[in-house]
Amino acid sequence: MRAIIPVAGVGTRLRPHTYSLPKVLLNVGGKPILGHILDTLIEQGITKATIITGYMRKLVEEYVRSHYSIEVDFVKQDVSLGLGHAIWVANETFDSEPLLIILGDTIFDLDLSPVKDSKISLIGVKEVEDPRRFGVVVTNKHGRIDRLVEKPQTPVSNLAIVGLYYIANPDILKEALVELMKKDIKTQGEYQLTDALQVMLEKGEEFSTFTIDGWYDCGKPETLLSTNRYLLDKYSTIKTFPDAVIVPPVFIAPNATIERSVIGPYTTVADGASVVDSVVRDSIISDGAMVTSSLLEMSIIGNNAYVRGNFNKLNVGNSSEINYG
Ligand code: UTP
Repeated sequence: MRAIIPVAGVGTRLRPHTYSLPKVLLNVGGKPILGHILDTLIEQGITKATIITGYMRKLVEEYVRSHYSIEVDFVKQDVSLGLGHAIWVANETFDSEPLLIILGDTIFDLDLSPVKDSKISLIGVKEVEDPRRFGVVVTNKHGRIDRLVEKPQTPVSNLAIVGLYYIANPDILKEALVELMKKDIKTQGEYQLTDALQVMLEKGEEFSTFTIDGWYDCGKPETLLSTNRYLLDKYSTIKTFPDAVIVPPVFIAPNATIERSVIGPYTTVADGASVVDSVVRDSIISDGAMVTSSLLEMSIIGNNAYVRGNFNKLNVGNSSEINYG
């Protein structure tokens, strides 16, 4: 089975970080987002991947080539015209065997064993309360998908499409994508994969669902931080420093420096970063960043950034109240 991973998007919601790094290379829980995705896929026995690159594609290619030895084809999407367009661009790399499409900004708890032997295509779904910002599937009483709707404004289903698709028959997907392009079918200005899958359904292709419980988005600062918390709960490192207090779970890279500080809980301190005279919790301090004299919470500090806070000098009389909150 080949994995198709689209990572060409600009990542506007994660600016300013994505001004200098593609979203998939942002550090979460001690490793780039794409590193988590590839490690999970390799663990699940996937040996071939197509990575669709665009924005800052050289950095993505360099990272993958220097860290992974699985067979990877890089395909270029020149303009981000939507997920459907991205997958269409990759169609030359489709094999006759099944495909697994996995979004480049989502980390999944993945167990492919129930999926691998399926004769029909499957869409990963999760029940959500408010489906209006997702694509959703409408299923019949046999669990087969009748209809797919991108970002429904009236409630038709609360089974949200989470960004993981098993395509049993790549040739039919290819046909549907070609049709999407030819007929210029767009929703909200973009070529949507959901619309291509709807075309497949209309051609008689059968689809069912599989439930995904562990699904961690990295597309916005607050979701990147919540995914960081989830990963640290799973992979916390144990490290001590002579003049610092470490409150697990944390990830502290072997060559990070911590001095006279309290780190954690839920803090990633990446390669070459240093934290001095500070209290940092629920935050990501990226490669080579330096934080000094600071109190940080729910913060993302980019690679090689420098943050210097200050200590207050107070002369406060009896029975006074100072409250910075
Ligand atoms: P998003 O919808 O999150 O877009 O794409 P984005 O550009 O990454 O981020 P924002 O919305 O500007 O903040 C979900 C996944 O699909 C890929 C993205 O790279 C991301 O991994 N994608 C999206 C493409 O590869 N090409 C596209 O045209 C659209």
